[in-house]
Amino acid sequence: MGELPVLDADSVGHVPVLLEETLAALAVRAGGVYIDATVGGGGHAAAILEQSAPWGRLLALDRDPHAAVRAAARLKPFGERVRVIHAAYAHLAKVARAEGFVPADGVLFDLGFSSLQVDDPDRGFSFRHEGFLDMRFDPTGNEPTAADLVNTLSEEGLVDLFRRYGEEPRSRRFARAIVAARPLETTGQLAGVIEEAAGGQRSRGIHPATRVFQALRIAVNRELAMLEETLPQVVSLLKPGGRLAIITFHSLEDRVVKHFFRQEARGCECPPEAPVCVCGRKPTLRLLTRKPIAPSPEEISVNPRSRSAKLRSVERLGEEKELGA
Ligand SMILES: C[S@@+](CC[C@H](N)C(=O)[O-])C[C@H]1O[C@@H](n2cnc3c(N)ncnc32)[C@H](O)[C@@H]1O
Repeated sequence: MGELPVLDADSVGHVPVLLEETLAALAVRAGGVYIDATVGGGGHAAAILEQSAPWGRLLALDRDPHAAVRAAARLKPFGERVRVIHAAYAHLAKVARAEGFVPADGVLFDLGFSSLQVDDPDRGFSFRHEGFLDMRFDPTGNEPTAADLVNTLSEEGLVDLFRRYGEEPRSRRFARAIVAARPLETTGQLAGVIEEAAGGQRSRGIHPATRVFQALRIAVNRELAMLEETLPQVVSLLKPGGRLAIITFHSLEDRVVKHFFRQEARGCECPPEAPVCVCGRKPTLRLLTRKPIAPSPEEISVNPRSRSAKLRSVERLGEEKELGA
């Protein structure tokens, strides 16, 4: 592998995870056409542009307008080879066609939030920084904030949310404590209520508010639903032989990706008891990773935030004549 740009947290604010593994999964080559659906701090994007020089092109999206502006500034040295758009990846197919990036050689999703977002108190993503409980990736939209959910859902609604998106075993206890303490406006207030309700108990060494904050962020941004809705459109953006690489940070996301990849690699949707296939569906993807790739101990030691990352990748099957579908 050629030399990659030096990317460290001090210079860019977010260290891209599994960088070499991602470039290998996407098989980035000179002159290729790539899409980064979640550009964030632009670390993966810069590396893809370096490795696809001199003519490779990259379309980069981010749902967060601040991230899109920052990434555009960082990627400016690549000139016409890069296009950065503020949009949720739900619009990827439309944007990629309109911008002339179909068919693509590779598409990357690096899900979740960046260090730039989590360390910004105004975004309300972290219980470590006091700030308004917002959690929207796009704060310019009209969607409800985390504070709206915390203050308006019923106890039952909160229990369901914490179970579904946080897999939190103490959902009932936390929901009850929140309902008794609200209105809650800040990250610190919410974390305080949960800490008190947990009575100093930590589950597997993690802060008691970890899963509640994850659940709220997923709900506020409809993360799992949007991922499920978007993945089927992505296959048609790829050339035959084109690659799709997805980095997830928790088991709920990884499960969505794994099921989608397996289903598309199998093709047939008939029930297992059917003697012959009647659905006629053919595989569209080939699995490149049966088991997800995880960061090495060395990577985790220099970038602890990478510890829960998992990379899965696939290759599009099919004939050249299907191009531009
Ligand atoms: C983990 S960061 C990406 C980091 C990036 N790969 C890098 O090297 O700097 C995830 C990014 O995805 C963005 N994001 C989250 N949901 C999104 C969505 N539905 N559409 C587009 N971007 C999204 C977030 O705003 C965040 O900037």
